[in-house]
Amino acid sequence: MHRIGMAVVPATDFTHGELTALWNRAYEGYFVPIHFDEQLFARHLRRAVVDLALSRVIAVDGLACGISLAGRRGLRGYLAGFGIAQTHRRRGLARQLVEAQAQAWSKAGLHRVFLEVIAQNPARALYGQAGFEELRTLDVLEGSFEARSAVAAQPLDHADLAAVHTACAAVSRPTWRRELPTVLDAIDREGAVALGVTRGTAIVAYAVAPPAGNVLPDAGAIDEAAAHDLLDALAAVRPGTRWRLVDEPTGSPLFDAATARGAAAVIRQIDMALTIQPVDVHPSP
Ligand SMILES: CC(C)(COP(=O)(O)OP(=O)(O)OC[C@H]1O[C@@H](n2cnc3c(N)ncnc32)[C@H](O)[C@@H]1OP(=O)(O)O)[C@@H](O)C(=O)NCCC(=O)NCCS
Repeated sequence: MHRIGMAVVPATDFTHGELTALWNRAYEGYFVPIHFDEQLFARHLRRAVVDLALSRVIAVDGLACGISLAGRRGLRGYLAGFGIAQTHRRRGLARQLVEAQAQAWSKAGLHRVFLEVIAQNPARALYGQAGFEELRTLDVLEGSFEARSAVAAQPLDHADLAAVHTACAAVSRPTWRRELPTVLDAIDREGAVALGVTRGTAIVAYAVAPPAGNVLPDAGAIDEAAAHDLLDALAAVRPGTRWRLVDEPTGSPLFDAATARGAAAVIRQIDMALTIQPVDVHPSP
């Protein structure tokens, strides 16, 4: 149907093919190239636990021109993608879309919603105006490491990984993309392997290594000494690899150890959160 004017509708009104095409238009001219085919888009939806009924699309005169993808885990939410097609930017559409999305989160009863935004992205101001607060900085780290001493990593099963992930999360909260279910998805569906290093009998650091390439889906350490042992172990796993780790909180034990050994922060992001005021859907008479 061709409607005149602006409308915000659930993403379930569109096919995956339409949403993939809209996603690519929404990310045109972005800081880093993000172009998905339908398969990669589906993988993104799965990993971020996107609820399409909760996600929103903004259309002008019947033409979809902006997308907001809402991930959901229990009462926590995640903005798993947001953008306006280049042809329609600077007309206030992002502001309307984020407001409509916030209303949808509120109606759905979510308590808190997280997002990450590249520090220099104008969207940072948009989210701030929508009520998101800035929590901390996150870095994309890149570095190749020389082993300082021989540290052997051991493969971890799901239970061991869950235990060390929980211990590291207590030191440095993981972002949505590095929460345990997403990490297990990388292991179970894409052949990544979890490796741990020990101190005595305790596993004190871990890395999840991809089957190919240099992007670690996740890694963590309970303290800086454990992080150094992990870097020694990684150096031995695939010597010469320039490892890349996304969403590492600035100043975490792993951040400090990696940067002390020459890793560079190549992209800085801001971790933001919105606390949702609940709406009373059944007001008392
Ligand atoms: C960032 C983006 C969503 C803004 O969409 P938009 O529809 O142009 O934004 P709006 O017109 O609603 O502007 C809302 C506010 O955002 C900020 N803003 C948006 N674009 C801006 C720009 N180019 N320069 C400076 N501020 C800008 C301003 O604070 C603006 O408020 P103002 O008009 O009162 O100054 C859009 O540029 C985009 O899709 N970019 C590519 C994808 C992306 O970066 N997504 C965010 C990922 S976290």
